Amino acid sequence: MPVIAIVNRKGGSGKSTLAAHIAAWSARQGSAVMLGDVDRQQSSRAWLKRRDPALPAIAPWALDQKNTLRVPSGITHVVLDTPGGLHGFELARVVMFADAIIMPVCQSVFDRESAAACHAELMTLPRVASGRCRLATVGMRIDGRTHAAETLRQWSESLNLPFLGALRETQMYVRCLERGLTIFDLSPSQAATDLAQWQPLIDWMTPLLHPVQAANDPSPAARSGVRPTRLGSYRPESLMPAQESLIQGGRLSAHAATSRPAAVPVPPTSAPSLPHAVHPGEITHIPQFLRRGV
Ligand SMILES: Nc1ncnc2c1ncn2[C@@H]1O[C@H](COP(=O)(O)OP(=O)(O)OP(=O)(O)O)[C@@H](O)[C@H]1O
Ligand SMILES: [Mg+2]
Repeated sequence: MPVIAIVNRKGGSGKSTLAAHIAAWSARQGSAVMLGDVDRQQSSRAWLKRRDPALPAIAPWALDQKNTLRVPSGITHVVLDTPGGLHGFELARVVMFADAIIMPVCQSVFDRESAAACHAELMTLPRVASGRCRLATVGMRIDGRTHAAETLRQWSESLNLPFLGALRETQMYVRCLERGLTIFDLSPSQAATDLAQWQPLIDWMTPLLHPVQAANDPSPAARSGVRPTRLGSYRPESLMPAQESLIQGGRLSAHAATSRPAAVPVPPTSAPSLPHAVHPGEITHIPQFLRRGV
């Protein structure tokens, strides 16, 4: 089960925005995706509550009979939104479950310095340092009239971090999130500029989120070899026991995902239904193991 965590200790860097969009994009690919909110602010959970049930479904955490949060059964992809200030043991716990971390970074020197410190801490964790958990940055709220994107690219490359491009500052994101939407839920013509900016991100995520798992995944999607592994970098060992332990109900069952080309958003008419009844908003806790101190 691929897990992508959105991490940056800098508050307001765009983590929840990015997490919601990645989850929505993944849902549009036909994945049974969960958007897990590790942040006490519960921005992602609140956004899920606003989301129209007719749109491609995104599940929140599920609560089992022992009152433990878990990934709902049938979920095949997980996106984790994390709080600002995440560090130390809490950061390590998230990294333990993540196959990839995307760090949204705004342009100011303060943002870069804070992100560099976060990166330095991440690199002390063996799972990141060894490449088992991949790391990349994306520029957030970038003013296209400035050199901000190039500055961020150079900064990212100086840290040996893949730079997945820059998302411009636009009220489209703000308005979409207010309505429980993402730009992937708009018509392609409405969001053409922004969708184009997402393409490098999507190219990077696709092999992580949709590797061919024929060896241990009996789903029709896996059997048909769905998804090209463009970077060829998926390692089966990234399905670590630690991730399995997120799932209290045992082995993941595969969702019969429908496959669509990664780059083409579709109108909000073909929402894949989740293979179980999950209602955004019914979860009131975050998992103990991910809970932040007061
Ligand atoms: N590309 C964008 N253009 C304009 N506004 C944006 C963009 N991305 C994010 N925002 C806005 O920036 C603010 C911060 O974004 P967001 O809440 O996603 O950050 P965060 O990192 O999750 O914050 P926190 O650390 O508090 O959880 C929000 O008001 C959001 O709507
Ligand atoms: Mg947030």
